Amino acid sequence: MQARVRTIREQFDREVAGIGDTAALAAARVRFLGRKEGLLTLLLRDLRDLSGAERAAAGREVNALKDHVEFGLAAAAERLAQAPAAATLTPLEASLPGRLVHPGPLHPLSQVRDDIEEIFLEMGFTLEHGPEVETDRYNFAALNIGEHHPARDSQDTFYLENGLLLRTHTSPVQVRAMERRRPPIAMVAIGKVFRRDAFDATHSPVFHQVEGLVVDEGITFAHLKGTLEHFCRRVFEREVTLRLRPSFFPFVEPGAEYDISCIFCSGAGCSRCKGSGWIELGGTGMVHPAVFEQVGYDPARVSGFAFGLGIERIAMLKHGIDDIRLFYENDLRFLGQSFA
Ligand code: FA5
Repeated sequence: MQARVRTIREQFDREVAGIGDTAALAAARVRFLGRKEGLLTLLLRDLRDLSGAERAAAGREVNALKDHVEFGLAAAAERLAQAPAAATLTPLEASLPGRLVHPGPLHPLSQVRDDIEEIFLEMGFTLEHGPEVETDRYNFAALNIGEHHPARDSQDTFYLENGLLLRTHTSPVQVRAMERRRPPIAMVAIGKVFRRDAFDATHSPVFHQVEGLVVDEGITFAHLKGTLEHFCRRVFEREVTLRLRPSFFPFVEPGAEYDISCIFCSGAGCSRCKGSGWIELGGTGMVHPAVFEQVGYDPARVSGFAFGLGIERIAMLKHGIDDIRLFYENDLRFLGQSFA
């Protein structure tokens, strides 16, 4: 009996070490512990044929073997349960160089937009938003742009169905903000605008504008000039002088175009400013009384100024980019640059 116990133990130890899957585990359990033909079951059955003292000694050995087999099978089951997790672990090779991660900077226009937003937010302006698909009223009529104004020409404006159009400037957001709010207002709106312009080095049919509006009692042209000059110094990060030239926009009176002293030659005259010493930036003026009337404000009580500028123009000047098309052609060598 002792010899049989030893042989079965050795056989079990050999087999349990080689168990590689749950089917092999189940088969081993049947082979050693199976109720009818299991090797240990047969051993226990044979104990019956032994005499009293022999049976007691052999019984202890067989029970010890049974414990050994049960323990071995439980350990094998545990090992199989751990195996899938171990198989998914990637071996670590500490001497390999790390993988390069290319997070990708913000689009250059987004970087400049964020700079501009930050400057105005610091000055206490709020951000306003308006739709890119507009009605004639907001894009033109409420801004005092008469029915026969050339800006309404289908040569300049993308018209959609049902009298809708793609906004040609961000000025409609002024009107929407004034309708929604009461003075005092100091807001900027930044977004896409659309014009039927040729796609060349300085024009794009889709571009971005910033619209600014300040309305309160006692707002003067001096506030306008101070605000724009401060903004230009902050955005170009240098001392610049602001120049205002009389101009006409139907929604402001008086209206002006504003220039800054050339950031490339400090006003001495160079090829970038065509020898003039000045660089044109955008349009501005005091809000026209007719616009106040459209939104139910009393022009005798409140006054305000508005201004507009092109983000592409600022970005091109600030970062020495000489072709607006680069912003829209998706060349990763251009887009991958950080303009911080
Ligand atoms: C306007 O759009 C007025 N709404 C600005 C304004 C607001 C005036 C408030 C007064 C008061 P203008 O059409 O000049 O103005 O456009 C403003 C700026 O947009 C220009 O200075 C220029 O930088 C930019 N811009 C105009 N057309 C294009 C274009 N096709 N591509 C890129 N930038 C353009």
